[in-house]
Amino acid sequence: MNSNTHILYSLILLSLSFDPVLVVAKNSELNSQHSYVLSCGGSIESTDTNGREWAPDSKLVPPSGDSIPATALHQDPSLPSQVPYMTARIFTSESAYNFSALPNKRLWIRLHFYPSSYGNLDPTDAYFSVTANGLSLLNNFSVSIAAEAHTQAYMIKEYSVSPVSNGELCIKFNPVSHRNGSYAFVNGIEVIPMPDIFDPENLVDGVDIRSSSVQTMFRLNVGGQYIPTTSDSGLSRTWYDDSPYLFGAGFGVSLEAGKNLTVDFPPNVPEYIAPRSVYRTARTMGKGSSINRKYNLTWVFKVDANFTYIVRLHFCELQFSKVNERVFDIFLNNRTAQQSADVIAWAGSAGVPMYKDFATYVGDVNGDDELWVAMHPSTLTKPEYFDAILNGLEIFKVNDTRGNLAGLNPVPSKMRLNDEAEAEEAAAMPSSLSGLGYDAVRGIAGGVAGFVVVAGVCIVVLYQNKRKEKGNVDVFGPANWLPTYGSSCTSTVSGRSTSRDSSHLSNIASLCRHFSLPEIRHGCNNFDESQVVGVGGFGKVYRGTIDGVIRVAIKRSNPSSEQGVHEFQTEIELLSKLRHKHLVSLIGCCVEGGEMILVYDYMANGTLREHLYKSTKPPLSWQKRLEICIGAARGLHYLHTGVNYTIIHRDVKTTNILLDENWEAKVSDFGLSKQGPSGLNQGHVSTLVKGSFGYLDPEYFRRQKLTEKSDVYSFGVVLFEVLCARPALEATSPKEQVNLADWVLYCQKKGILEEIIDPHLKGMISPECLKKFAETAEKCLSDHGVDRPSMGDVLWNLEYALQLHDNPEAARVYEEERKVNNDPSMHYTTIRIEEIREASEETDVLNTTAVFSQLVNPRGR
Ligand SMILES: *[C@@H]1O[C@H](CO)[C@@H](O)[C@H](O)[C@H]1NC(C)=O
Ligand SMILES: *[C@@H]1O[C@H](CO)[C@@H](O)[C@H](O)[C@H]1NC(C)=O
Ligand SMILES: *[C@@H]1O[C@H](CO)[C@@H](O)[C@H](O)[C@H]1NC(C)=O
Ligand SMILES: *[C@@H]1O[C@H](CO)[C@@H](O)[C@H](O)[C@H]1NC(C)=O
Ligand SMILES: *[C@@H]1O[C@H](CO)[C@@H](O)[C@H](O)[C@H]1NC(C)=O
Ligand SMILES: *[C@@H]1O[C@H](CO)[C@@H](O)[C@H](O)[C@H]1NC(C)=O
Ligand SMILES: *[C@@H]1O[C@H](CO)[C@@H](O)[C@H](O)[C@H]1NC(C)=O
Ligand SMILES: *[C@@H]1O[C@H](CO)[C@@H](O)[C@H](O)[C@H]1NC(C)=O
Repeated sequence: MNSNTHILYSLILLSLSFDPVLVVAKNSELNSQHSYVLSCGGSIESTDTNGREWAPDSKLVPPSGDSIPATALHQDPSLPSQVPYMTARIFTSESAYNFSALPNKRLWIRLHFYPSSYGNLDPTDAYFSVTANGLSLLNNFSVSIAAEAHTQAYMIKEYSVSPVSNGELCIKFNPVSHRNGSYAFVNGIEVIPMPDIFDPENLVDGVDIRSSSVQTMFRLNVGGQYIPTTSDSGLSRTWYDDSPYLFGAGFGVSLEAGKNLTVDFPPNVPEYIAPRSVYRTARTMGKGSSINRKYNLTWVFKVDANFTYIVRLHFCELQFSKVNERVFDIFLNNRTAQQSADVIAWAGSAGVPMYKDFATYVGDVNGDDELWVAMHPSTLTKPEYFDAILNGLEIFKVNDTRGNLAGLNPVPSKMRLNDEAEAEEAAAMPSSLSGLGYDAVRGIAGGVAGFVVVAGVCIVVLYQNKRKEKGNVDVFGPANWLPTYGSSCTSTVSGRSTSRDSSHLSNIASLCRHFSLPEIRHGCNNFDESQVVGVGGFGKVYRGTIDGVIRVAIKRSNPSSEQGVHEFQTEIELLSKLRHKHLVSLIGCCVEGGEMILVYDYMANGTLREHLYKSTKPPLSWQKRLEICIGAARGLHYLHTGVNYTIIHRDVKTTNILLDENWEAKVSDFGLSKQGPSGLNQGHVSTLVKGSFGYLDPEYFRRQKLTEKSDVYSFGVVLFEVLCARPALEATSPKEQVNLADWVLYCQKKGILEEIIDPHLKGMISPECLKKFAETAEKCLSDHGVDRPSMGDVLWNLEYALQLHDNPEAARVYEEERKVNNDPSMHYTTIRIEEIREASEETDVLNTTAVFSQLVNPRGR
């Protein structure tokens, strides 16, 4: 085993060693007494998908006619759990919950809202205020406006209220009086005693935090993954990925602690401050000192004006161990909050968590309601590296002097209004959505195409500087980069940085249409953040137009990315040669002013992943999913066989399968692709291991021999992702379930696969079809490449599965005939001819069923 494979193994072990069970136990210990976790309107004790118990609220509400338990009429697919969101309590006049809390103890209050139709009540009519012992939490609040502005199906509001001396807490709901037919509602309430997480001594600007209440605005695991309540360190908080808040093209790289670095809490930092997993991941500026000098690592947050905010920054050094190695300045709203921050100087050594609180007032000068948090390498102390680091970030809003925490309802952005209009137009044309098996209008209400943070296409990056700076040093080994969830960041398991030689640039630029930088800037509103449709490790993807009308996706480099000129070049070279209905098309590129930009066809329906899980999109029908898998299989089959030489994609995953406006699947991102030896199955390419965790062919990283069967393996993972609607790697799952491939193979062996398929598909797939599909996917996951089917075989089997779904009788007849003909090579040849013809002539849509019948019954042609 050489060093590269070794590192890869340790990384995978690392993600497997995450153990949420322990944390859950701690959870209940801290919260057991005097905690209320109420499912409002519910009638019985119930458990949510995280295993949390919710009690009915009936004992705590006044028995008046103005408080009505209700059940939501629709269940939005993106709700994390039915409990507590599917039931609600409706108030038509002022009503209160009285809690007896622990006296003199700070309390969490969490309010859960799901704006849906309850009985004949319209969610847009709900305008109400909420107070807690007179402290105004929400005022003239419209859940439906707020949820829509955040493109979320539901809202959670979290407050930490100052201690009440007698322990009596009264939470009042009051519909506004200035609108007729207005009502108040709530789906879930948590009232939980909490430790004093604010230490007044650490605060700047002398904010009187002890007697104040705060609202949590943002809580981010910077450079890391989503952490659910049950994996928090005892305070049932949720931590989110920071990438949606990053500003600009330069947003650094995410970093994960090496396996042998232990994170130990010092005596002055209690473990409940933040879970270890927050401190084990971080975002840094990257290794290029000269690049880092040119940009600020910046996060931008929308906040309410006229409030003081406490910004809590969590730090834990993961790479360096000496003072003055990594020193940086911290800016809040363009003002210096901290000069020469040095985590080692503060904490003493690597792996020691610490945090800093800063207070800043956000006023209301010309509607300025943004909070900017920025970092820049400090040069004052002449540090060894020009870099910055941040592990976690929380932003709390402090009540104003009038005891108010309520802000205004958000104003929907112009962008969103346009999108809505577009979506409505699309809904008016049922043809494009028919056969999806869901109500298109509801889909729009639930999700609105708006600003959705998805990883579109991966950005291949370039910058022209050669990487010779002394910042380019690895401390804990080269491969500490892990993909963040939901981004299409690809890990390069290679310590060497790619050549940054720009001499090839002029050559590649001649392969495709060249755009000028002003043309690109004009096309995407000068890289306006509102145009971002995806964020990946390599940079951002913007939506834009060229030539005034053609909608395109624009990939812009993140200068800190590990990817280099080489990947950029590969993508252009391959894509300019390949044309296929199921491969995304490159329109052009821009190499100018230090920017490296690729312009693609716009894929209106985004990535396959965003239609599978953790999104607000309605679930896809099984038929649609099969068709998408078949399309992607065709694209890959073409890569493997359709041109004169084999092309191995090397990064097959659900974020690299894009969907156009007609739901046609297109394979994208050829930055890592390799041309194999000509001909099929004749050899392999020996290469450094690259690809994405969770999708990597075990044989490939054992032997570093790349064949097209490595793509088949990854595609097998994709097939199971489509079936089970969960990520390939899910660090928050129980150990045995973290890796999807392992988990499905285990379930398949036990014969319990049906139990883990997407609940939306339960009862929608015939047993024969499911069997065929699962068998095919399972074969793709065979340990040895030789045991895996070819892409052509996979394609045939998927088409057969579709046929079993569509028309089981006909499928069985075909299968019989195929057995009689007994010519296993027949369908390969046929497919290849079809595919090549399809590619070379770019013919019209081929009817899958027609092709299928030709395949299985060659005599019929
Ligand atoms: C809750 O407390 C308030 C006063 O704090 C009182 O007016 C109200 O009747 C109480 N409600 C219930 C249901 O006990
Ligand atoms: C509410 O309705 C009443 C009568 O139906 C009407 O007089 C009043 O102006 C309405 N108020 C508002 C705020 O619309
Ligand atoms: C902020 O305060 C100013 C002055 O009191 C006021 O004019 C403005 O409307 C307030 N803005 C918001 C958003 O409340
Ligand atoms: C900070 O500065 C940037 C440009 O330098 C500007 O766009 C932004 O609005 C400023 N932010 C605040 C909150 O003043
Ligand atoms: C970083 O932000 C600070 C404060 O807004 C600003 O003064 C500085 O010019 C910025 N630096 C760069 C390189 O953008
Ligand atoms: C928050 O409200 C309380 C009263 O509810 C008040 O004593 C405190 O001073 C307020 N905090 C700030 C920062 O104004
Ligand atoms: C309540 O909120 C709505 C929607 O944001 C707004 O149009 C209305 O003016 C607000 N009313 C009051 C009294 O603040
Ligand atoms: C683990 O720690 C040792 C020393 O503590 C160090 O020499 C080694 O490089 C580390 N290995 C990795 C993979 O980080």
